[in-house]
Amino acid sequence: MDSQRVNEAGSGMTGSARIRRILILGGTAEARRLSETLADRPDLAVTLSLAGRTAEPAPQGAPVRSGGFGGAEGLARYLREQRIGVLIDATHPYAAVMSANAASAAKMAGVPLLALRRAAWQRQVGDDWREIDTLEAAVKALGEAPRRVFLALGRKELVPFAAAPQHFYLVRSVDPVDPPLAVPQASYITARGPFTEQADRALLENHAIEIVVAKNSGGDATYGKMAAARELRIPVIMLKRPALPEVTSVATVDEVVAWLDHAIAPSVARGV
Ligand SMILES: NC(=O)c1ccc[n+]([C@@H]2O[C@H](COP(=O)([O-])OP(=O)(O)OC[C@H]3O[C@@H](n4cnc5c(N)ncnc54)[C@H](OP(=O)(O)O)[C@@H]3O)[C@@H](O)[C@H]2O)c1
Repeated sequence: MDSQRVNEAGSGMTGSARIRRILILGGTAEARRLSETLADRPDLAVTLSLAGRTAEPAPQGAPVRSGGFGGAEGLARYLREQRIGVLIDATHPYAAVMSANAASAAKMAGVPLLALRRAAWQRQVGDDWREIDTLEAAVKALGEAPRRVFLALGRKELVPFAAAPQHFYLVRSVDPVDPPLAVPQASYITARGPFTEQADRALLENHAIEIVVAKNSGGDATYGKMAAARELRIPVIMLKRPALPEVTSVATVDEVVAWLDHAIAPSVARGV
């Protein structure tokens, strides 16, 4: 961890005040909680970055900047210009492009990087999961016969399912799906998690869902549908997690705070 320690040159200190600038790449409940946790710290100036895809993002605990940086080079430039002292990648486990860019940019700008990565859900007794690598494989796995499918996916992941118009699709998303999926039978729900098992069970039952397509997001907020599918003995086609860069990682908000405290502690206080 010492190689990751924030030194004076890369600390992003503002004037004489020893305030470290922290950039959190967000778009997740953990990033929001982390920014809330760090918001009151007088020794930190936290900015939270969102991709800008959601029309009305949930309120965040820190000032927000929104929109892409322009690839890894753009992010590296931002880190230098804003004198960011620590970069925290708290994006969703399927946001693989942003995580790769974060790893490259941190290296280019010489800024310590910590990734906050949720643990994946583990298969429980009674789960009927079929793991696949791509959305196209998920479409294929639905089969030829018409089925009633719950697509627990993001808006940009729906398009491949137009290749299997024989199925009925139930889609739940934060913002409306526009344009809608090019299939004759689809139903749309706009809702923001967390979702309870009870509510998701009712959703699956009310729409007579026969199969779920989902990502292994981990965390509690969207686990309800997995538990409900197990209860109802509904199979799940699970898109495997993408490969992410090998960087220093922790799994919880508390561990980020502990890492930060260690990384920014003055060497004198640490007895070094
Ligand atoms: N993928 C999911 O399943 C999922 C689920 C829930 C929430 N989210 C959140 O939604 C956002 C987009 O996810 P994605 O899967 O579309 O990402 P992605 O494919 O990994 O990223 C595509 C591009 O979007 C921009 N971007 C992504 N996250 C950003 C952030 N936090 N701040 C600024 N720019 C960002 C970057 O543009 P530039 O190259 O121009 O910098 C990036 O190259 C992320 O913040 C993620 O945490 C994703």
